[in-house]
Amino acid sequence: MKAIEWLGDRVRILDQTRLPQEEVYLELSRYQDIASAIRKLKIRGAPAIGVAGAYGIALGALKIKAKSREEFQEKLRAISQTIADTRPTARNLFRAIDRMLKVAEAGGDIDQIKAALVNEAIKIHTEEAEATTKLSQLGAELIEDSFAVLTHCNTGALATAGYGTALGVIKKAWEQGKKLRVLVTETRPLLQGARITAWELKRAGIPFTLITDSMAGYFMSRGEVDCVIVGADRIASNGDTANKIGTYTLAVLAKEHSIPFYVAAPTTTIDLTLASGAQIPIEQRSPEEVTRIQGVSIAPEGVNAQNPAFDITPHQYITAIITERGIIKEPYGEGIIRIGGRG
Ligand code: MRU
Repeated sequence: MKAIEWLGDRVRILDQTRLPQEEVYLELSRYQDIASAIRKLKIRGAPAIGVAGAYGIALGALKIKAKSREEFQEKLRAISQTIADTRPTARNLFRAIDRMLKVAEAGGDIDQIKAALVNEAIKIHTEEAEATTKLSQLGAELIEDSFAVLTHCNTGALATAGYGTALGVIKKAWEQGKKLRVLVTETRPLLQGARITAWELKRAGIPFTLITDSMAGYFMSRGEVDCVIVGADRIASNGDTANKIGTYTLAVLAKEHSIPFYVAAPTTTIDLTLASGAQIPIEQRSPEEVTRIQGVSIAPEGVNAQNPAFDITPHQYITAIITERGIIKEPYGEGIIRIGGRG
């Protein structure tokens, strides 16, 4: 099962909006189709969005017809802008775009640049995948035998085009023979937990219990959660972290109950240009995702609804940030600068 695969002149993705009912693979050969797939969450999760964006730029580049390098660069910049305009929060997307544009500026004739762009996209994919395997290994050390672990959203193979971040840590701990109890929040409004994490854990044979987002406090107050582990879309220099809406609520609840709260992310999610979470752009999605569940209306027609896709968890709620380069704890400023964000 692969979230995304490069097929030479097209990209194959597993359409995550159709899970778990159907496993539908889409073959996309136009960069506009990749942009649309990212916007519609057919492919989603910060690292996977970065990989998809890089492949989208490579696909677009292969089709550029230009008489000069300048004309090529101009068209490539327009393609990159279309990819950049899909979703604003995940840092991985913008890092991938920057890397692709740098490669295009490095030199060579147009055919050489096209080949270099394809290679760079594959490299971005390989590096993201390797980073998630590494961080999962490191993070698994924090998970003790018989732990009850609560996780939010989907942070597994499908979200990362690799092994996973928070879910990778859980999978690795399980592979090490630790007997875990996993609590999966459904993750309203788009149910990435109920639909995708549940699907991935079931395939992996890891037992879990699905709960609604609002049940987290109940289970914590009864001593039924030993740690919370989530992914991240962007981590500011001070450790403030943007992740799926509802993460902040979980972090505050965890602190109230003295439960460790871990964030797992590759260093490509770190944004050293931002001093704090207040500067992280938060994607606002269609209110219809709140007033409907999988297309079925659940509220009276025309009601006012809001749909921020992410929230910010201030660093003081985070017990540790797990990356492929090591585990960081307070003071985050120092640790994050030491570990850095990959360029
Ligand atoms: O809107 P989504 O489904 O793309 O949001 C995904 C998340 O919030 C994940 O927790 C995050 O991207 C980390 S994925 C390894």
